Amino acid sequence: MDRIIVKGGAQVSGALEISGAKNACLALMPAALLTDEPLTLTNAPDLTDITTMVDLLRSFGCEVAALKNNSVIAISAGLINNYLAEYDIVRKMRASILVLGPLLARVGQATVSLPGGCAIGARPVDLHLKGLEAMGAELNLVDGYINANAKSGLQGANYEFPSVSVGATENLIMAATLAKGSSCFKNCAREPEVVDLCNCLKSMGAKISGAGTSEILIEGVSRLSGTTHKVISDRIELGTYMLVPAIAGGTLLLKGATKKTLEAFTLKLEETGAVIIENEEGLLVSGSQSGVEPTNIITEPYPGFPTDLQAQMMALLIFSNGVSLLEEKIFENRFMHAPELMRMGANIELDGGTAKVTGVKKIKGAPVMATDLRASVSLILAALAAEGETVISRVYHLDRGYERLENKLFSCGVDIRRV
Ligand code: EPZ
Repeated sequence: MDRIIVKGGAQVSGALEISGAKNACLALMPAALLTDEPLTLTNAPDLTDITTMVDLLRSFGCEVAALKNNSVIAISAGLINNYLAEYDIVRKMRASILVLGPLLARVGQATVSLPGGCAIGARPVDLHLKGLEAMGAELNLVDGYINANAKSGLQGANYEFPSVSVGATENLIMAATLAKGSSCFKNCAREPEVVDLCNCLKSMGAKISGAGTSEILIEGVSRLSGTTHKVISDRIELGTYMLVPAIAGGTLLLKGATKKTLEAFTLKLEETGAVIIENEEGLLVSGSQSGVEPTNIITEPYPGFPTDLQAQMMALLIFSNGVSLLEEKIFENRFMHAPELMRMGANIELDGGTAKVTGVKKIKGAPVMATDLRASVSLILAALAAEGETVISRVYHLDRGYERLENKLFSCGVDIRRV
């Protein structure tokens, strides 16, 4: 089991590249199931979740060619002959549920394990299932599996999501591209990753309008063709690295980045005193010269403050010269990083979905444990400015969402190593 050791105190400098977006790629890969022609994705990130999705697609009979560091993934679903997504794979990666809509649309059947809960909450898939039933799918839950059928094909439907769900929006969009007739989906997720999926589907011949708004219209077509699509940049990785100079001090250039898909986060980061300059090379981020100001955060669906950056923002606010309130409104248990940060000396009071963070002058390195993807990186961020060494265990969580994290941080002056 790998561990990462960080020695705090170094200021950062230099420039970093941001990788392709994990959460865009995990929706784009299942889209290959909608056609018998090859779908080629470029700028795909080299992450364990992506490898897990490659394995899942191969288990259906897809031919998948992934260049050594996953940067180019070519998927051909011409000869798929198995429509079972095993529990063992699905429990490791919830995004596996995104094969359900495409398989139903393409072959009219699928057996997908229920994902089960995860560290950050129960994370049911009821919104996915209700929407697919609205399109004529017959779904039966047997022994923890979803047995899905749409023998006479899916029908376009008018469906309003009871609450915003990124994955359910993506599943239904993919299903509707090949359904008979038109669909109108309301209360859709507006995340940039949903827009990226729609752009790829449109280049495959899908008829979609309204991507990025809460109302999406889709005209079903009889078939889709292959295409080559570049995965958008990872805005959550970007936000994570923007916090590095804010916490450690110094300045970092994030190459090719823009504030465009991170307005809510950027505003809050600037409120704490960090300086963010957008120029032709990308985003130049410097730590505050006058200490970290407190600020209050409420996580919301896009374009609100992203839940995937809440843990990382907390790692900055533990150093503020005041009190900050962080309200997590998307997931019911996404403060697993707090007890670990408290072991380092942070002053955090948890009360249900709200964390009250009272800034402290300094924290001390300690042995801590990663619990979920974003919580693990918040421990590393806090360690950048902790006194002494911090040893983070269970860093396999990190490898799910951050490509070569220790190399990137080492290259900008952080004393960090993986053992
Ligand atoms: C996506 O998960 C992301 N994952 C998550 O990123 C992200 O945190 C989340 O969207 C919210 O932005 C991928 O894109 C692969 P949801 P998803 O459906 O689609 C509840 C990361 O760190 N819900 O928008 O699973 C759910 O429990 C990951 O990269 C239902 O109740 O999220 C949650 O409370 C973590 N029923 C809320 O809705 C459903 O059928 C939002 O979930 C579906 C969801």
